Amino acid sequence: MNESLIKHVTQKNLTYFIETYGCQMNAHESEKIAGVLENIGYTYTDGKNKADLIIFNTCCVREHAEARLYGNVGALREHKKNVAGAVIAVCGCMMQQQDAAKKLAVRFPFVDIVFGTNHIQQLEGMLSDVLLGGGRRVLRIDEDETVIEGLPALRNSLSSAYVNIIYGCNNFCTYCVVPFVRGRERSRRSADILSEINALCDQGITEVTLLGQNVNSYGKGTDIFFPELLNRIDEETGVKRLRFMTSHPKDLTDELIGCYGRIGCLCEHIHLPVQSGSDRILERMNRRYTKAHYLSLVERLRDRVPDIAVTTDIIVGFPGESDADFADTIDLVNSVKFDAAYTFAYSKRALTKAAGMPGQIDKQTKKERLKKLNSLVGACMLDNNKAYIGKEVEVLVENSSKRNENEISGRTRTAKTVNFEGSAHEIGWYVSVKIDKVKAHTLHGVRAGEE
Ligand code: 5AD
Ligand code: SF4
Repeated sequence: MNESLIKHVTQKNLTYFIETYGCQMNAHESEKIAGVLENIGYTYTDGKNKADLIIFNTCCVREHAEARLYGNVGALREHKKNVAGAVIAVCGCMMQQQDAAKKLAVRFPFVDIVFGTNHIQQLEGMLSDVLLGGGRRVLRIDEDETVIEGLPALRNSLSSAYVNIIYGCNNFCTYCVVPFVRGRERSRRSADILSEINALCDQGITEVTLLGQNVNSYGKGTDIFFPELLNRIDEETGVKRLRFMTSHPKDLTDELIGCYGRIGCLCEHIHLPVQSGSDRILERMNRRYTKAHYLSLVERLRDRVPDIAVTTDIIVGFPGESDADFADTIDLVNSVKFDAAYTFAYSKRALTKAAGMPGQIDKQTKKERLKKLNSLVGACMLDNNKAYIGKEVEVLVENSSKRNENEISGRTRTAKTVNFEGSAHEIGWYVSVKIDKVKAHTLHGVRAGEE
């Protein structure tokens, strides 16, 4: 602990604001950044314009994230004039790419700190250099891939928490930049994971989502593999609802499928990115499974748990994707009838194999395919949700509604959002709700017994 830094921050009542882009992994890293900052004495503000420290936690999975970041960082040019002594920092995946980090530092000389995904534990030192040393610090990336334990996290939710179990990725899907920025797979020790989860349960958290780029390959180099980790969490912690993301279809074993319906806390939901329904495109993506294999996985999951919710990620317009390939994706969506899908237009990323592939697809075609896909996914979601009408579901309350002060919202075990009447003090509680109306993205209901 740096006493003079804490004194400086607390005496001046310094505030911070974090803007987060990208996936759940990044959202959780922002919670860790917030934990570090609060330990130093910073307090959170939602008034970005007045914050003494603004941190952008970046993503680099898709191109537009970069453009958006540049726009938002650029808009802060005047911030340092308006707020004396303000500090601006940029971190996260994009800053793990040396070129991008350099480009940002040159283009925006008013940015004080640049750091990669493995440097959160050095944030205190960097802030001390800037605030007390008067020097600008640009810390780019390094090869450090050690797993950092014990970082405090200021969690955003009172009801559920993210817990990292594996960092990095070894898969090298040809469109994806993640293996280049987050390095090779490193699993956390199961004892560390279990003690983090037990500490969360002591604080009243009952839902945990295990995080990793490919959670199925958890365990290499540690003591247990993924299915056993799920067993241990069920047996040795007080978690009521356990989820995980993301799983790779090529690593979804029978043993893991067998965990559904057997492990009590494991929720009836799986996020299983398919990316494409065309075998030719799947091969070019280096996904190492076929459409038929994916369909057989879904069938086996539904054999075990008939009402399991299946969600996915799909990319349209991958280089070389013909109308027939896209039709295969549409066909797959029609067969599976996903409960939700994150859909993306292929975006060319430096370093990746697909960036150099022939047959890059024009913007208009990608846009049209995305539109067609999204309307089909929306129709599937609505159809699936209709099956909930009249049913009673257990909802873990997460939020009070922004639009209606008498309404709260939460999720079912199948990860469906349910809105119903209630008040904010119920956040973190489990409530039985009978569904009466549904839309594609949300369900609505009344408390069981009150209908
Ligand atoms: N272009 C479009 N979508 C991408 N994704 C990853 N890389 C790209 C890319 N270059 C999508 C994949 C992945 C999700 C997190 O982001 O669908 O599963
Ligand atoms: Fe990217 Fe593929 Fe690894 Fe997922 S599994 S992070 S898509 S390389």
